[in-house]
Amino acid sequence: MTSSNESTVDIAHVYRGTFVHSTDHTAVEILEDRLLGVDTEGKIAFIGSGQEVYSLSQKWRFEALAVTQLGQYEFFMPGMVDTHIHASQYSYAGTALDLPLLQWLNTYTFPVEACYKDLGFARNVYTHVVKRTLRNGTTTACYFATIHTDASLLLGQIANDFGQRALVGKVCMDTNNFVPHYRETPEESHDETNRFISELLEKKYPLVRPVVTPRFAPSCSAALLGHLGEIAQNNHLHIQSHISETKEEVKLVKELFPDYDSYTDVYHKHNLLTDKTVMAHGCHLTDEELKLFREKGASIAHCPNSNISLCSGMLDARRVLNHKVKLGLGTDVAGGYSPSMLDAVRRTLDTSKVLTIQDPQYQTLTFEEVFRLATLGGSQALSLDEHTGNFKVGKDFDALRVNTAIEGGPIDLINHGEGPKVGTRDDRNIAEVYVAGKRVVPFVERP
Ligand code: GUN
Ligand code: FE
Repeated sequence: MTSSNESTVDIAHVYRGTFVHSTDHTAVEILEDRLLGVDTEGKIAFIGSGQEVYSLSQKWRFEALAVTQLGQYEFFMPGMVDTHIHASQYSYAGTALDLPLLQWLNTYTFPVEACYKDLGFARNVYTHVVKRTLRNGTTTACYFATIHTDASLLLGQIANDFGQRALVGKVCMDTNNFVPHYRETPEESHDETNRFISELLEKKYPLVRPVVTPRFAPSCSAALLGHLGEIAQNNHLHIQSHISETKEEVKLVKELFPDYDSYTDVYHKHNLLTDKTVMAHGCHLTDEELKLFREKGASIAHCPNSNISLCSGMLDARRVLNHKVKLGLGTDVAGGYSPSMLDAVRRTLDTSKVLTIQDPQYQTLTFEEVFRLATLGGSQALSLDEHTGNFKVGKDFDALRVNTAIEGGPIDLINHGEGPKVGTRDDRNIAEVYVAGKRVVPFVERP
Protein backbone atom coordinates (compact mmCIF):
# COMPACT_ATOMS: atom_id res chain seq x y z
CA MET A 1 0.00 0.00 0.00
CA THR A 2 1.16 3.53 -0.73
CA SER A 3 -0.09 6.60 1.06
CA SER A 4 -1.71 9.32 -1.04
CA ASN A 5 1.44 11.45 -1.41
CA GLU A 6 3.63 8.50 -2.40
CA SER A 7 4.18 7.79 -6.09
CA THR A 8 3.48 4.39 -7.63
CA VAL A 9 6.26 4.87 -10.21
CA ASP A 10 9.43 2.90 -9.50
CA ILE A 11 12.61 4.95 -9.42
CA ALA A 12 15.73 3.32 -10.86
CA HIS A 13 18.31 6.10 -10.38
CA VAL A 14 18.60 9.46 -8.69
CA TYR A 15 21.33 11.99 -9.53
CA ARG A 16 22.29 15.09 -7.56
CA GLY A 17 24.32 18.00 -8.89
CA THR A 18 24.34 20.62 -11.67
CA PHE A 19 22.13 20.20 -14.73
CA VAL A 20 22.59 22.43 -17.79
CA HIS A 21 19.96 22.43 -20.54
CA SER A 22 17.81 24.58 -22.87
CA THR A 23 14.16 25.42 -22.74
CA ASP A 24 11.94 27.18 -25.27
CA HIS A 25 12.45 30.39 -23.32
CA THR A 26 16.05 30.14 -22.14
CA ALA A 27 18.90 29.07 -24.41
CA VAL A 28 21.00 27.85 -21.47
CA GLU A 29 19.51 27.24 -18.06
CA ILE A 30 21.89 26.17 -15.30
CA LEU A 31 20.16 24.29 -12.50
CA GLU A 32 22.43 23.97 -9.50
CA ASP A 33 22.11 21.37 -6.76
CA ARG A 34 19.15 19.57 -8.27
CA LEU A 35 17.93 16.07 -7.64
CA LEU A 36 16.74 14.24 -10.76
CA GLY A 37 14.96 10.88 -10.58
CA VAL A 38 14.80 8.42 -13.49
CA ASP A 39 12.12 5.73 -13.45
CA THR A 40 12.49 2.12 -14.50
CA GLU A 41 11.29 3.04 -18.01
CA GLY A 42 14.18 5.50 -18.40
CA LYS A 43 11.96 8.57 -18.08
CA ILE A 44 12.58 11.60 -15.89
CA ALA A 45 10.15 11.13 -13.00
CA PHE A 46 10.95 14.22 -10.96
CA ILE A 47 13.32 17.17 -10.69
CA GLY A 48 13.62 18.79 -7.29
CA SER A 49 16.01 20.74 -5.14
CA GLY A 50 18.95 18.91 -3.58
CA GLN A 51 17.82 20.23 -0.22
CA GLU A 52 14.61 18.24 -0.52
CA VAL A 53 16.36 14.90 -0.67
CA TYR A 54 14.62 13.56 2.42
CA SER A 55 11.05 14.47 1.47
CA LEU A 56 11.58 13.40 -2.15
CA SER A 57 12.98 10.04 -1.03
CA GLN A 58 9.80 9.49 0.99
CA LYS A 59 7.51 10.49 -1.83
CA TRP A 60 9.34 8.54 -4.55
CA ARG A 61 10.46 5.66 -2.33
CA PHE A 62 14.21 5.66 -2.97
CA GLU A 63 17.12 5.33 -0.58
CA ALA A 64 18.65 8.75 0.07
CA LEU A 65 22.01 7.02 0.38
CA ALA A 66 21.72 5.53 -3.12
CA VAL A 67 21.74 8.97 -4.76
CA THR A 68 24.60 9.46 -7.25
CA GLN A 69 26.33 12.70 -6.32
CA LEU A 70 28.14 14.54 -9.11
CA GLY A 71 31.62 15.88 -8.35
CA GLN A 72 32.61 19.53 -8.06
CA TYR A 73 33.65 19.78 -11.70
CA GLU A 74 30.82 17.73 -13.14
CA PHE A 75 27.43 18.47 -14.65
CA PHE A 76 24.78 16.78 -16.74
CA MET A 77 23.70 18.16 -20.10
CA PRO A 78 21.21 16.66 -22.59
CA GLY A 79 22.63 14.21 -25.11
CA MET A 80 23.36 15.84 -28.45
CA VAL A 81 21.28 15.26 -31.58
CA ASP A 82 23.07 14.77 -34.90
CA THR A 83 20.34 15.60 -37.39
CA HIS A 84 22.35 14.52 -40.46
CA ILE A 85 25.12 11.94 -40.72
CA HIS A 86 26.04 9.38 -43.39
CA ALA A 87 26.98 6.27 -41.40
CA SER A 88 28.22 4.69 -44.62
CA GLN A 89 30.74 7.46 -45.25
CA TYR A 90 32.48 7.10 -41.89
CA SER A 91 35.12 4.81 -43.46
CA TYR A 92 36.72 7.75 -45.29
CA ALA A 93 35.96 10.61 -42.88
CA GLY A 94 38.82 13.10 -42.82
CA THR A 95 39.98 12.33 -46.37
CA ALA A 96 38.94 13.19 -49.92
CA LEU A 97 37.82 16.77 -49.36
CA ASP A 98 39.43 18.25 -52.46
CA LEU A 99 36.47 18.32 -54.84
CA PRO A 100 33.17 20.21 -54.96
CA LEU A 101 29.99 18.31 -54.06
CA LEU A 102 28.86 16.80 -57.36
CA GLN A 103 32.35 15.62 -58.34
CA TRP A 104 33.01 14.50 -54.77
CA LEU A 105 29.91 12.29 -54.90
CA ASN A 106 30.92 10.70 -58.22
CA THR A 107 34.60 10.28 -57.41
CA TYR A 108 34.63 9.19 -53.78
CA THR A 109 31.19 8.70 -52.29
CA PHE A 110 29.30 6.50 -54.73
CA PRO A 111 32.16 3.99 -55.21
CA VAL A 112 32.50 3.63 -51.40
CA GLU A 113 28.75 3.34 -50.77
CA ALA A 114 28.58 0.56 -53.39
CA CYS A 115 30.74 -1.57 -51.03
CA TYR A 116 27.85 -1.94 -48.53
CA LYS A 117 26.54 -4.80 -50.58
CA ASP A 118 29.08 -6.68 -48.45
CA LEU A 119 27.48 -7.13 -45.03
CA GLY A 120 30.83 -7.82 -43.34
CA PHE A 121 32.14 -4.45 -44.51
CA ALA A 122 28.88 -2.80 -43.42
CA ARG A 123 29.01 -4.38 -39.96
CA ASN A 124 32.55 -3.19 -39.39
CA VAL A 125 31.97 0.45 -40.39
CA TYR A 126 28.51 0.71 -38.79
CA THR A 127 29.78 -0.66 -35.47
CA HIS A 128 32.57 1.91 -35.50
CA VAL A 129 30.33 4.86 -36.35
CA VAL A 130 27.69 4.04 -33.72
CA LYS A 131 30.34 3.59 -31.02
CA ARG A 132 32.25 6.70 -32.03
CA THR A 133 29.23 8.99 -32.15
CA LEU A 134 27.96 7.67 -28.81
CA ARG A 135 31.40 8.28 -27.27
CA ASN A 136 31.23 11.81 -28.66
CA GLY A 137 27.89 12.41 -26.95
CA THR A 138 25.48 11.84 -29.85
CA THR A 139 22.54 10.18 -28.12
CA THR A 140 20.28 10.63 -31.17
CA ALA A 141 21.48 10.27 -34.76
CA CYS A 142 19.61 10.68 -38.02
CA TYR A 143 21.49 8.35 -40.35
CA PHE A 144 21.79 7.88 -44.10
CA ALA A 145 22.90 4.31 -44.87
CA THR A 146 23.16 3.21 -48.54
CA ILE A 147 20.81 1.74 -51.18
CA HIS A 148 21.29 -1.75 -49.67
CA THR A 149 18.31 -2.85 -47.59
CA ASP A 150 20.02 -5.58 -45.56
CA ALA A 151 22.98 -3.40 -44.63
CA SER A 152 20.59 -0.58 -43.67
CA LEU A 153 18.66 -3.00 -41.43
CA LEU A 154 21.99 -3.99 -39.90
CA LEU A 155 22.68 -0.33 -39.04
CA GLY A 156 19.33 -0.24 -37.23
CA GLN A 157 20.25 -3.38 -35.31
CA ILE A 158 23.68 -2.04 -34.32
CA ALA A 159 22.22 1.28 -33.10
CA ASN A 160 19.68 -0.70 -31.07
CA ASP A 161 22.34 -3.03 -29.66
CA PHE A 162 24.53 -0.15 -28.47
CA GLY A 163 21.52 1.78 -27.18
CA GLN A 164 21.59 4.80 -29.50
CA ARG A 165 18.36 6.56 -30.44
CA ALA A 166 18.34 6.60 -34.24
CA LEU A 167 16.42 7.38 -37.37
CA VAL A 168 17.80 5.11 -40.07
CA GLY A 169 17.32 5.65 -43.80
CA LYS A 170 17.87 3.23 -46.64
CA VAL A 171 19.03 5.57 -49.41
CA CYS A 172 16.85 5.77 -52.54
CA MET A 173 18.31 6.71 -55.91
CA ASP A 174 17.39 5.62 -59.43
CA THR A 175 19.54 8.16 -61.28
CA ASN A 176 23.33 7.90 -61.39
CA ASN A 177 25.02 8.37 -64.74
CA PHE A 178 28.56 8.44 -63.41
CA VAL A 179 28.61 5.32 -61.25
CA PRO A 180 25.81 3.27 -62.84
CA HIS A 181 26.42 0.19 -60.68
CA TYR A 182 25.35 2.26 -57.69
CA ARG A 183 21.68 2.89 -58.39
CA GLU A 184 18.33 1.10 -58.31
CA THR A 185 15.47 0.87 -60.75
CA PRO A 186 12.45 2.90 -59.61
CA GLU A 187 10.61 -0.38 -58.84
CA GLU A 188 13.51 -1.75 -56.78
CA SER A 189 13.79 1.47 -54.85
CA HIS A 190 10.07 1.49 -54.10
CA ASP A 191 9.84 -2.22 -53.18
CA GLU A 192 13.03 -2.26 -51.12
CA THR A 193 11.96 0.86 -49.23
CA ASN A 194 8.74 -0.91 -48.28
CA ARG A 195 10.70 -4.00 -47.24
CA PHE A 196 13.14 -1.89 -45.23
CA ILE A 197 10.35 -0.12 -43.38
CA SER A 198 8.32 -3.22 -42.61
CA GLU A 199 11.32 -5.32 -41.52
CA LEU A 200 12.73 -2.54 -39.32
CA LEU A 201 9.34 -1.91 -37.69
CA GLU A 202 8.86 -5.66 -37.13
CA LYS A 203 11.97 -5.72 -34.95
CA LYS A 204 10.24 -3.38 -32.49
CA TYR A 205 13.50 -1.71 -31.50
CA PRO A 206 12.42 0.82 -28.87
CA LEU A 207 14.72 3.64 -30.00
CA VAL A 208 15.16 3.04 -33.74
CA ARG A 209 12.79 4.20 -36.48
CA PRO A 210 12.90 4.17 -40.28
CA VAL A 211 13.16 7.40 -42.27
CA VAL A 212 12.20 7.70 -45.93
CA THR A 213 15.39 8.83 -47.70
CA PRO A 214 15.45 10.10 -51.27
CA ARG A 215 19.17 10.97 -51.61
CA PHE A 216 18.43 14.34 -53.29
CA ALA A 217 16.45 15.49 -56.30
CA PRO A 218 19.30 15.03 -58.84
CA SER A 219 19.51 11.31 -57.88
CA CYS A 220 15.77 10.63 -58.13
CA SER A 221 13.25 10.56 -60.95
CA ALA A 222 9.98 12.41 -60.41
CA ALA A 223 8.23 9.01 -60.37
CA LEU A 224 10.44 7.77 -57.54
CA LEU A 225 9.99 10.98 -55.54
CA GLY A 226 6.22 10.54 -55.93
CA HIS A 227 6.35 6.94 -54.68
CA LEU A 228 8.45 7.90 -51.69
CA GLY A 229 6.12 10.76 -50.77
CA GLU A 230 3.24 8.33 -50.83
CA ILE A 231 5.04 5.75 -48.68
CA ALA A 232 5.93 8.39 -46.09
CA GLN A 233 2.40 9.77 -46.04
CA ASN A 234 0.70 6.37 -45.76
CA ASN A 235 2.93 5.30 -42.87
CA HIS A 236 3.36 8.71 -41.14
CA LEU A 237 7.10 8.40 -41.43
CA HIS A 238 10.04 10.75 -41.11
CA ILE A 239 11.65 11.99 -44.34
CA GLN A 240 15.23 13.17 -44.93
CA SER A 241 17.11 14.46 -47.94
CA HIS A 242 19.48 17.19 -49.10
CA ILE A 243 18.55 20.61 -50.47
CA SER A 244 20.33 23.66 -51.93
CA GLU A 245 23.76 22.69 -50.67
CA THR A 246 25.68 24.25 -53.60
CA LYS A 247 24.83 26.71 -56.35
CA GLU A 248 25.83 24.18 -59.02
CA GLU A 249 23.34 21.68 -57.56
CA VAL A 250 20.55 24.29 -57.49
CA LYS A 251 21.25 25.02 -61.18
CA LEU A 252 21.16 21.30 -61.98
CA VAL A 253 17.80 20.87 -60.25
CA LYS A 254 16.41 23.78 -62.33
CA GLU A 255 17.52 21.93 -65.46
CA LEU A 256 16.21 18.55 -64.35
CA PHE A 257 12.88 19.84 -62.97
CA PRO A 258 12.07 22.89 -65.14
CA ASP A 259 8.35 22.88 -64.34
CA TYR A 260 8.71 23.51 -60.61
CA ASP A 261 8.83 26.87 -58.85
CA SER A 262 11.95 26.04 -56.86
CA TYR A 263 14.10 23.22 -55.46
CA THR A 264 11.84 23.16 -52.38
CA ASP A 265 8.81 22.96 -54.64
CA VAL A 266 10.18 19.75 -56.19
CA TYR A 267 10.00 18.03 -52.78
CA HIS A 268 6.79 19.80 -51.81
CA LYS A 269 4.91 18.69 -54.94
CA HIS A 270 5.87 15.08 -54.18
CA ASN A 271 4.57 15.22 -50.60
CA LEU A 272 8.09 15.14 -49.21
CA LEU A 273 7.92 18.41 -47.28
CA THR A 274 6.10 17.66 -44.03
CA ASP A 275 6.45 18.37 -40.31
CA LYS A 276 8.55 15.19 -40.11
CA THR A 277 10.97 16.23 -42.86
CA VAL A 278 14.57 17.22 -42.23
CA MET A 279 16.54 18.63 -45.16
CA ALA A 280 20.32 18.95 -44.93
CA HIS A 281 22.18 22.17 -45.77
CA GLY A 282 19.75 24.67 -47.35
CA CYS A 283 22.62 27.17 -47.83
CA HIS A 284 21.07 28.76 -50.91
CA LEU A 285 17.35 28.73 -50.13
CA THR A 286 15.32 31.84 -51.02
CA ASP A 287 12.98 33.59 -48.59
CA GLU A 288 10.01 32.07 -50.46
CA GLU A 289 11.43 28.59 -49.97
CA LEU A 290 12.03 29.23 -46.26
CA LYS A 291 8.42 30.39 -46.00
CA LEU A 292 7.30 27.08 -47.47
CA PHE A 293 9.47 25.22 -44.96
CA ARG A 294 7.83 27.17 -42.14
CA GLU A 295 4.34 26.61 -43.53
CA LYS A 296 4.89 22.85 -43.77
CA GLY A 297 6.78 22.55 -40.47
CA ALA A 298 9.83 21.07 -42.21
CA SER A 299 13.27 21.57 -40.70
CA ILE A 300 16.87 22.20 -41.74
CA ALA A 301 20.00 20.35 -40.62
CA HIS A 302 22.84 22.86 -40.50
CA CYS A 303 26.08 21.06 -41.41
CA PRO A 304 28.78 23.73 -41.17
CA ASN A 305 31.83 21.48 -41.28
CA SER A 306 30.67 19.97 -44.56
CA ASN A 307 29.57 23.31 -45.98
CA ILE A 308 33.09 24.66 -45.52
CA SER A 309 35.00 21.43 -46.27
CA LEU A 310 33.33 20.99 -49.66
CA CYS A 311 33.24 24.79 -50.27
CA SER A 312 29.44 24.51 -50.64
CA GLY A 313 28.32 27.74 -49.02
CA MET A 314 27.53 29.22 -45.63
CA LEU A 315 24.12 28.77 -44.12
CA ASP A 316 22.79 31.99 -42.61
CA ALA A 317 21.38 30.30 -39.52
CA ARG A 318 20.07 33.60 -38.14
CA ARG A 319 17.92 34.02 -41.25
CA VAL A 320 16.53 30.51 -40.82
CA LEU A 321 15.70 31.22 -37.17
CA ASN A 322 14.10 34.55 -38.09
CA HIS A 323 11.86 32.64 -40.50
CA LYS A 324 10.92 30.40 -37.54
CA VAL A 325 12.04 27.31 -39.42
CA LYS A 326 13.12 24.47 -37.12
CA LEU A 327 16.90 24.12 -37.11
CA GLY A 328 19.26 21.40 -35.85
CA LEU A 329 22.95 20.67 -36.33
CA GLY A 330 24.52 17.85 -38.30
CA THR A 331 28.02 16.52 -38.78
CA ASP A 332 27.31 15.33 -42.35
CA VAL A 333 30.15 12.81 -42.17
CA ALA A 334 32.01 12.50 -44.54
CA GLY A 335 31.37 15.82 -46.32
CA GLY A 336 32.07 17.00 -42.78
CA TYR A 337 35.29 15.45 -41.56
CA SER A 338 34.36 15.21 -37.90
CA PRO A 339 31.89 12.78 -36.26
CA SER A 340 31.68 15.07 -33.23
CA MET A 341 28.69 17.25 -32.44
CA LEU A 342 30.97 19.49 -30.40
CA ASP A 343 32.79 20.13 -33.64
CA ALA A 344 29.44 21.00 -35.25
CA VAL A 345 28.85 23.48 -32.41
CA ARG A 346 32.23 25.11 -33.00
CA ARG A 347 31.83 25.25 -36.80
CA THR A 348 28.35 26.75 -36.38
CA LEU A 349 29.85 29.54 -34.32
CA ASP A 350 32.72 29.96 -36.82
CA THR A 351 30.32 30.28 -39.75
CA SER A 352 28.23 32.81 -37.87
CA LYS A 353 31.37 34.80 -37.05
CA VAL A 354 32.57 34.74 -40.67
CA LEU A 355 29.17 36.18 -41.64
CA THR A 356 29.76 38.85 -39.01
CA ILE A 357 33.21 39.62 -40.43
CA GLN A 358 31.58 40.10 -43.82
CA ASP A 359 28.84 42.28 -42.32
CA PRO A 360 29.51 43.80 -38.89
CA GLN A 361 25.76 44.48 -38.49
CA TYR A 362 25.07 40.74 -38.61
CA GLN A 363 23.55 39.31 -35.46
CA THR A 364 26.06 36.58 -34.55
CA LEU A 365 24.68 33.42 -32.97
CA THR A 366 25.54 33.23 -29.29
CA PHE A 367 27.21 30.20 -27.72
CA GLU A 368 24.02 29.61 -25.76
CA GLU A 369 21.87 29.57 -28.90
CA VAL A 370 24.19 27.05 -30.53
CA PHE A 371 24.10 24.83 -27.41
CA ARG A 372 20.33 24.81 -27.83
CA LEU A 373 20.60 23.93 -31.54
CA ALA A 374 22.80 20.92 -30.67
CA THR A 375 20.30 19.59 -28.11
CA LEU A 376 16.69 20.79 -27.93
CA GLY A 377 16.79 22.33 -31.44
CA GLY A 378 17.92 19.04 -32.94
CA SER A 379 15.19 17.09 -31.17
CA GLN A 380 12.61 19.57 -32.50
CA ALA A 381 14.08 19.39 -36.00
CA LEU A 382 13.57 15.61 -35.90
CA SER A 383 10.13 15.89 -34.25
CA LEU A 384 11.45 13.84 -31.34
CA ASP A 385 11.17 16.60 -28.74
CA GLU A 386 8.34 14.80 -27.01
CA HIS A 387 10.94 12.22 -25.95
CA THR A 388 14.30 13.97 -25.80
CA GLY A 389 16.19 17.29 -26.02
CA ASN A 390 16.17 18.61 -22.47
CA PHE A 391 15.49 17.73 -18.83
CA LYS A 392 11.75 17.81 -18.49
CA VAL A 393 9.61 15.47 -16.41
CA GLY A 394 8.15 12.78 -18.69
CA LYS A 395 10.95 12.90 -21.26
CA ASP A 396 13.53 10.15 -21.59
CA PHE A 397 16.76 10.69 -19.67
CA ASP A 398 19.22 11.20 -22.57
CA ALA A 399 22.19 12.81 -20.93
CA LEU A 400 25.93 13.39 -20.88
CA ARG A 401 27.85 13.40 -17.63
CA VAL A 402 30.53 15.98 -18.29
CA ASN A 403 33.64 16.31 -16.17
CA THR A 404 35.55 19.49 -16.95
CA ALA A 405 38.52 18.27 -14.91
CA ILE A 406 38.68 14.74 -16.33
CA GLU A 407 41.97 12.84 -16.18
CA GLY A 408 43.75 13.11 -19.52
CA GLY A 409 41.53 16.01 -20.60
CA PRO A 410 42.55 18.44 -23.32
CA ILE A 411 43.07 21.61 -21.29
CA ASP A 412 44.38 22.69 -17.89
CA LEU A 413 41.74 24.05 -15.56
CA ILE A 414 43.10 27.19 -13.95
CA ASN A 415 41.25 28.16 -10.82
CA HIS A 416 40.04 31.75 -10.87
CA GLY A 417 38.30 31.77 -7.53
CA GLU A 418 35.02 30.22 -6.51
CA GLY A 419 32.06 29.03 -8.58
CA PRO A 420 31.29 25.99 -10.68
CA LYS A 421 33.36 25.47 -13.81
CA VAL A 422 30.78 24.80 -16.46
CA GLY A 423 31.79 24.22 -20.05
CA THR A 424 32.74 21.24 -22.17
CA ARG A 425 36.15 21.60 -23.77
CA ASP A 426 36.37 18.42 -25.76
CA ASP A 427 34.70 15.06 -26.41
CA ARG A 428 37.16 13.63 -23.86
CA ASN A 429 35.32 15.52 -21.11
CA ILE A 430 32.26 13.34 -21.67
CA ALA A 431 32.63 10.78 -18.89
CA GLU A 432 29.33 8.92 -19.28
CA VAL A 433 26.48 8.84 -21.80
CA TYR A 434 22.89 7.86 -21.01
CA VAL A 435 20.07 7.08 -23.45
CA ALA A 436 16.56 6.50 -22.13
CA GLY A 437 17.99 6.17 -18.64
CA LYS A 438 20.50 3.47 -19.51
CA ARG A 439 24.22 4.11 -19.30
CA VAL A 440 25.58 3.29 -22.76
CA VAL A 441 29.10 4.80 -22.42
CA PRO A 442 31.52 3.54 -21.17
CA PHE A 443 30.64 0.47 -23.23
CA VAL A 444 29.91 -2.76 -21.51
CA GLU A 445 31.79 -5.53 -23.25
CA ARG A 446 29.41 -8.13 -24.63
CA PRO A 447 30.17 -11.84 -24.51
N1 GUN B 1 23.93 15.40 -51.63
C1 GUN B 1 23.56 14.19 -52.09
N2 GUN B 1 24.22 13.20 -51.49
C2 GUN B 1 25.06 13.78 -50.62
C3 GUN B 1 26.02 13.27 -49.69
O1 GUN B 1 26.25 12.08 -49.55
N3 GUN B 1 26.69 14.21 -48.94
C4 GUN B 1 26.45 15.55 -49.07
N4 GUN B 1 27.14 16.39 -48.30
N5 GUN B 1 25.57 16.03 -49.93
C5 GUN B 1 24.88 15.17 -50.70
FE1 FE C 1 24.69 14.72 -46.38
